[in-house]
Amino acid sequence: VFHSHLDEKVRPYIDLVDSLRQIGIERDVALPTIAVIGDQSSGKSSVLEALSGVALPRGSGIVTRCPLVLKLKRLKGGVQWKAIISYKGQLISFDDPRLVESHIREAQNRLAGTDVGICEDPISLEISSHDVCDLTLIDLPGIARVPVKGQPDDIGDQIKRLIMAFVKKTETIILVVVPCNVDIATTEALRMAQEVDPEGKRTLAVLTKPDLVDKGTERNVLDIVENKVIPLSKGYLIVKCRGQKDIDDKISLSEATWREREFFRTNKYFSSLLNQDKATTHCLANKLTHDLVNHIKISLPIISEEVNKLLWDTRKALGQFEKGPPLELYEMKNYLMDILVEFNNKIDRLCEGEVFNGEN
Ligand code: GDP
Ligand code: NA
Ligand code: MG
Repeated sequence: VFHSHLDEKVRPYIDLVDSLRQIGIERDVALPTIAVIGDQSSGKSSVLEALSGVALPRGSGIVTRCPLVLKLKRLKGGVQWKAIISYKGQLISFDDPRLVESHIREAQNRLAGTDVGICEDPISLEISSHDVCDLTLIDLPGIARVPVKGQPDDIGDQIKRLIMAFVKKTETIILVVVPCNVDIATTEALRMAQEVDPEGKRTLAVLTKPDLVDKGTERNVLDIVENKVIPLSKGYLIVKCRGQKDIDDKISLSEATWREREFFRTNKYFSSLLNQDKATTHCLANKLTHDLVNHIKISLPIISEEVNKLLWDTRKALGQFEKGPPLELYEMKNYLMDILVEFNNKIDRLCEGEVFNGEN
């Protein structure tokens, strides 16, 4: 589905960041990434589903309960499709796309309980396939204002805190998902993005559900996508994903991609957006890959500088421990003797001090 002439140029950058993330460098240094945020049921999982080509847990209410790091890798030849899910010491590989959903649900239940709670621990899902783009994104729980049965009263704040931890980092590209049938100015997700990125330099907005737009408001939606209402430097895109009926009718993701294109091509208001590369999931995928790689290129010198500084600090701290133990056997005896002598001297000095103190 995704044909990127940039293939050769993008993979190494994304792989580099993925492998840095794998070794846990994010504990010390923030890495470039794309975080997907939006109000509950705005269509976040549907957009990720369209980008990844596999069914993810979705529906009404809180479905995404842990950060999901979705790594998409475009395969050239060989293996047809494979996935690896990992979380908290677990690592499961599988080669049946139909299992993605149940594996994620299982992982979430283990991390966040079987109820409606959320958890900060991420689940990583790596999908290698011929028809995905090269991209790593993080899906986050949707912003909910009213707790549902079984949720703590402060669930809204918990979710916002979790989202904030990701979006406040300048290394994060914020992908804000907003449905066409709500007033964009009042969406909490966009407000949060504007709070941490007032100029919209690293915020990209995606409008979903164009098929559900209120009749008569199409022009407003068009103005938004054309960046005329709430301007963002990265701008807006509009996509149409599978609605509940499409899922009930078992419309496949590839069929949905085709229908999406037809929808925009034949839509009186939105067809012009196709030529501007502002409509369809395909365009979104290309734009995200392009933006992520640019972001990585800009961030690499900064990361390298931070790592060097950490290294310098650590070396300095280590220096306080002198040379450390010798590696050669013949040096070890002397080394131990020195330590013992020094220890003995210290004890002596301490005792003298005690005597001295005692005399006082
Ligand atoms: P999330 O909570 O933000 O992850 O939202 P979901 O992706 O789970 O979507 C919520 C509901 O909206 C689901 O029933 C989707 O099928 C539906 N939905 C998502 N995108 C579209 C769209 O473009 N058109 C229509 N009609 N429904 C959509
Ligand atoms: Na949902
Ligand atoms: Mg979701």
